[in-house]
Amino acid sequence: MELHPRDPGRTAWALPCLLLLVLPGAGAQTGQDFKLHQPQDKVSVRAGETLTLNCTVSGDSDPGPVKWLKGWGSDNKTIYGDTGTYPRVARAVNESNTDFTIHIRNVQPEDIGTYYCVKFQNLLGGGIRVFKHGSGTEVSVQAKPSQPLVSGPTQRVAPGQSVTFSCTAGGFFPKDIGVKWFKDTNPITSQMPQVTEWQRQSYNMSSTVTVVLGEGDVLSRLTCEVQHSASPTLLQGTYQLNKVLRVSPRVDVRAEQRSPIQLNKTVNFTCHVKGFYPRDLSISWLENGMKMEVEKNNSWLSESSKGLWELRSWVEVQATEEKNGSVFTCLVVHDAQAPINYSTTLWIASPDEEGLRKKFQMDNENLVIYSVVAVVCLILALLVAAILYLIRTKQIKGKSSPSARLHEPEKSSEATTQESDPNNLTYADLNFDKERKTIRRMVEMSQQSEYACIQTSQAPNGDENLTYADLDMVHLSKAPKRPAPRPEEATSEYASVQIPRK
Ligand SMILES: *[C@@H]1O[C@H](CO)[C@@H](O)[C@H](O)[C@H]1NC(C)=O
Ligand SMILES: *[C@@H]1O[C@H](CO)[C@@H](O)[C@H](O)[C@H]1NC(C)=O
Ligand SMILES: *[C@@H]1O[C@H](CO)[C@@H](O)[C@H](O)[C@H]1NC(C)=O
Ligand SMILES: *[C@@H]1O[C@H](CO)[C@@H](O)[C@H](O)[C@H]1NC(C)=O
Ligand SMILES: *[C@@H]1O[C@H](CO)[C@@H](O)[C@H](O)[C@H]1NC(C)=O
Ligand SMILES: *[C@@H]1O[C@H](CO)[C@@H](O)[C@H](O)[C@H]1NC(C)=O
Ligand SMILES: *[C@@H]1O[C@H](CO)[C@@H](O)[C@H](O)[C@H]1NC(C)=O
Repeated sequence: MELHPRDPGRTAWALPCLLLLVLPGAGAQTGQDFKLHQPQDKVSVRAGETLTLNCTVSGDSDPGPVKWLKGWGSDNKTIYGDTGTYPRVARAVNESNTDFTIHIRNVQPEDIGTYYCVKFQNLLGGGIRVFKHGSGTEVSVQAKPSQPLVSGPTQRVAPGQSVTFSCTAGGFFPKDIGVKWFKDTNPITSQMPQVTEWQRQSYNMSSTVTVVLGEGDVLSRLTCEVQHSASPTLLQGTYQLNKVLRVSPRVDVRAEQRSPIQLNKTVNFTCHVKGFYPRDLSISWLENGMKMEVEKNNSWLSESSKGLWELRSWVEVQATEEKNGSVFTCLVVHDAQAPINYSTTLWIASPDEEGLRKKFQMDNENLVIYSVVAVVCLILALLVAAILYLIRTKQIKGKSSPSARLHEPEKSSEATTQESDPNNLTYADLNFDKERKTIRRMVEMSQQSEYACIQTSQAPNGDENLTYADLDMVHLSKAPKRPAPRPEEATSEYASVQIPRK
């Protein structure tokens, strides 16, 4: 008989009952109350895990085995039976007559299908036939993708070029998958991944991304991050960008001493090769195109913080006369690329040139000495000038002659005044030349004037050096300044006292 048992749910129960009624069976007396229960409708399991298929029977039945079949009809396959070996399958309760639940270890995508628990009846003439079976359990296997693999170009590229990388992962189910790309920690935009069916119930995917490489990417890496329902964690594939980057060096060749070189001196030529990657680089030296013998340890390699390399190589040359004009070449071969050469020429100073150079040097030294002397002299001169100026100002303040000095009333001394000072007026000292004069006295006074005109007659006291005049009789008005009165005689001495207005 051909029954299609894929009726879900409630009809699953009805089917065995129907069979009971319809089929008379070999032993019609037994099997009336036999029941087979396959409770699972659908089961999803992750690849590699263990699948449990439940089946229980109850009631009496004719002799005959209980088996698990995958698929129905001509397509069926016995997964577990009373005879034979089934390495991945084990019964949940060994030897039980009622519980025929089985475990299938290490489930694979191939295990996808519908499984039936079947009770067979032994036939009298040998052989078996289906007596009862469950409604079937549909098993789906979630397969997680394989570890993502990132691949790049097969040859190294220079900075500035754009490069395509791809990320592949396969063998996953279901079809839905998410892919993200990162350069270090920065996300990069990429197109939707291409998903293709690889096997039945198994998919492969490929995602590509285009990146413009930079010199600083030697230390960077690409990450392809895959997210899938069958994998509890994010899957990552990484790619170190230094695998695909080639940074060519900058080269500089020069003699360590300034050219021209002195005759018979030794000179070092240095080839400075900077900022290259990968490290694979060789230097050779040529003298006028001929290979030079160089000691092995004449180079120094170092790595920069950006992951680039730097190499210095040097040769020592004796600056003999016949080497004048020789060309020294540093030949650099980087990462199996075409060699690059850089040259410099050795110039040896002729003896007269050398003499000139020495003279020039001497002149330079003399110039320095002269300059120092000049500067020192200038400083000294300035110092002397400053001192003289200070002395002079002090003298002017002190006893310049002739001069006038105003006294505050309380400071005025009796010696310098002829009369007492009842009016508490300001006094002025008039300091005249210490010349003996004919003594005459004349005071011109004006109410309006700010000026007093004093003509000396006789020294008012014993001090012959000074001529004093009292100014207390002078009334100072606020009238505008008038021209000072003219001296009356050539011998007269005048003093003009100006009082600042308050
Ligand atoms: C399936 O069988 C196992 C072992 O007998 C049992 O522990 C589990 O509860 C059963 N599951 C269902 C859904 O009947
Ligand atoms: C299983 O397949 C065999 C032959 O391949 C067939 O004879 C048998 O009837 C099938 N059983 C069922 C239950 O479909
Ligand atoms: C699909 O992925 C699997 C597992 O990663 C791999 O073995 C297989 O070669 C891939 N097939 C194709 C066509 O890419
Ligand atoms: C330089 O060296 C050569 C031989 O080594 C010698 O003949 C010559 O005098 C030297 N010249 C000077 C300026 O030292
Ligand atoms: C370089 O090698 C030579 C001999 O091979 C040795 O005499 C010299 O000391 C070495 N120099 C350095 C800096 O290692
Ligand atoms: C140096 O390079 C130039 C081209 O740049 C080439 O013509 C020349 O032959 C090279 N010299 C050597 C010594 O390799
Ligand atoms: C080296 O060559 C330069 C240029 O030809 C010349 O000026 C100089 O005098 C030469 N030196 C010697 C030591 O001959």
